[in-house]
Amino acid sequence: MIIGLGCLAHDHMLVTETTWESGKGRVIHAETRFGGNVRNALSTVAALDHPAAYLGSVGLSASSDEAMVDLASHGISTEFIERVVGADPVQSRITVTAGGERYVAFDDSTLATTPLPSDAVVDAALSAADVLLIDACVAPPGSLRVVEQARERGVAVVLDAERDPSPTVLALVDAADHLVIPLGFGAQITGASSAADVTAELWNDRRTAVVLTDGTRGSYACAAPGDVVHVRAYAVDAVDTTGCGDAFHGAYAWSLVSGAGLIQRVTVASAAAAVVAALPAGARRVPSREAIAELVVG
Ligand SMILES: Nc1ncnc2c1ncn2[C@@H]1O[C@H](COP(=O)(O)OP(=O)(O)O)[C@@H](O)[C@H]1O
Ligand SMILES: [Mg+2]
Repeated sequence: MIIGLGCLAHDHMLVTETTWESGKGRVIHAETRFGGNVRNALSTVAALDHPAAYLGSVGLSASSDEAMVDLASHGISTEFIERVVGADPVQSRITVTAGGERYVAFDDSTLATTPLPSDAVVDAALSAADVLLIDACVAPPGSLRVVEQARERGVAVVLDAERDPSPTVLALVDAADHLVIPLGFGAQITGASSAADVTAELWNDRRTAVVLTDGTRGSYACAAPGDVVHVRAYAVDAVDTTGCGDAFHGAYAWSLVSGAGLIQRVTVASAAAAVVAALPAGARRVPSREAIAELVVG
């Protein structure tokens, strides 16, 4: 089972017909849906027919109730969730422009009242896990211990992080065996700029892989220091790139469980991300195995 530790988000989307540079644009689609990096990654895992579960606290508000329904309807198990007053989804307003670029404005004040579930729940989740997916930027206090426990039990840890490099986030980044982060964030935390230099700085003796993603410029895969392979992004007509990186993480974890090597994992992940980027507005935002295979085979 692939377990996810991060946060849930309630995303209020506006899709416009113009580019960001236009300054303003007519709304061509509006919807409210659930997101959050780990929720999106888990929905990809479940869509690819592997068991997936969210590990965390979820509040008691109407938004939290809807989030529970959303998880279940995407095939994500809620068995490792504890309901706790105040642990409500992050609220986001997302503007998507022509070409699929997005700006996410979020209120994450509820994270201050979103604890880890009890030790017994964490223990049960780790016992069931073959991979732990974690979003370091939003994971609850105490998540470093969960990562360490996962590692002690031989559970692979696939870690995402994209902003706010606090000491806690950096400690989590340090501890993961599969570090899968945007190149820009890697550059920010290392002070290096090229993918080769960033991976070299991020490598440590706990790593199995370092993967740096870079939007339409593709990604960089490193399984040993000094050995960095560029993997291209698939050329698609992007409609909405929200959650592309998350589908990448989910498909990477799924591919890891199936025993694939690093380049194959990153290739499958890239295809999953491209499939999600090209989905029409309003579609269920998960890739299918068939759509991934179609891109990979070419
Ligand atoms: N517009 C796009 N078209 C095709 N693939 C994309 C597109 N945007 C992102 N991807 C794929 O998704 C990966 C992650 O995207 P990236 O933008 O780097 O992360 P994030 O969404 O987390 O910011 C990229 O490395 C690429 O393979
Ligand atoms: Mg991301």
